[in-house]
Amino acid sequence: MRIGIIGAGQLGQMLGYAARDLGVECRFIDPSDSPPAADCGEVLQRPFDDSKALAELAATCDVVTFEFENVPVEALHKIDDKVPVYPPADALRHAQDRLDEKRLFDQLDIPLPGYRTVDSREDIVTAIEELGLPVVIKSRRLGYDGKGQFIVREPEDIDAAWKTVGGQPLIAEQWIHFDFEVSCIGARNVDGDIVIYPLSRNLHEGGILKTSRSPIDAPVLADRAETYVQRMLGHLDYVGVLALELFVCGDDLLANEFAPRVHNSGHWTIEGSATSQFENHLRAVMNRPLGSTASLGHAGMVNLIGDIPGAVRSQELGVLHDYGKTPRPGRKLGHITVTAESAAERDRLVDIISRSVT
Ligand SMILES: Nc1ncnc2c1ncn2[C@@H]1O[C@H](COP(=O)(O)OP(=O)(O)O)[C@@H](O)[C@H]1O
Ligand SMILES: [Mg+2]
Repeated sequence: MRIGIIGAGQLGQMLGYAARDLGVECRFIDPSDSPPAADCGEVLQRPFDDSKALAELAATCDVVTFEFENVPVEALHKIDDKVPVYPPADALRHAQDRLDEKRLFDQLDIPLPGYRTVDSREDIVTAIEELGLPVVIKSRRLGYDGKGQFIVREPEDIDAAWKTVGGQPLIAEQWIHFDFEVSCIGARNVDGDIVIYPLSRNLHEGGILKTSRSPIDAPVLADRAETYVQRMLGHLDYVGVLALELFVCGDDLLANEFAPRVHNSGHWTIEGSATSQFENHLRAVMNRPLGSTASLGHAGMVNLIGDIPGAVRSQELGVLHDYGKTPRPGRKLGHITVTAESAAERDRLVDIISRSVT
């Protein structure tokens, strides 16, 4: 069995390690020099939508998947008549445009913050009249780690917002004073079997994920989130892992966005679950039985952003995953996962590590 993976970043690398454990070979497409997944299989160093590279992947692999959300949808359509491509291109299309994504949530009766389409400075004014302040203006496409976003707290911020992110398709979204953020990760295989992981509680700083913890003691939220993810998986006839990010307000959940791929907030599943999100993604796209998502104790994950301090390397409080990337400010270079017998002990370890990385 050989799996083609479009993208060879750290998500590709972790998929590659899971594939190795399953005895499955991987081939990647990625334009960058020595990407993280290069040690997991051959990388065709070509653009993601390169017809020749895609055709080669289709001809030599049993199934093709992607680890990178901005793969052009047309790239998948170039090969999806020759080889099964999962997750479906339609799911990727929704995830690539925040407006489409929000309309999908609406269509599926998944609650979400109020939003408006913004194509002009005037649209921001109207959106604020209708939604109130603050709002966050977000680019519809290509945003990640909080990039392409501007928070409008006062009417005086409108000019700066338009100057900073204007000139591209945008949305305005109510700024939510949430209690905390969670994500719910599910997997569905070709036969339609579904497994859902326990909720992960996530902390973002400046739009970038800092820590994740799971499980959390919130059965009402977990039930609700699971229902939403089930609904999405079924509606999209989805195959693979999908992550839904949500804001928690009391007992209510508001959908923020979803990712049609393995997700940073699920990295703890490598050590913290009976089956990791990476293994379950591979199982899903190969149409194998999905593995148990039962937690192995209490897991926590701390992202290593910008650099991996020596103090963190020598701490040995958890398992260090170094993606082997060149350090750059704001870049995700690795993560550490801790596992503990209690939530309190897990939180203590996460706090110690978090302090060492800031
Ligand atoms: N409407 C909102 N209200 C409150 N916080 C928000 C809102 N939108 C985004 N954020 C904060 O910014 C983070 C990143 O925004 P998100 O829309 O998920 O973009 P990205 O695609 O960059 O992850 C969120 O996880 C959350 O912490
Ligand atoms: Mg996000």
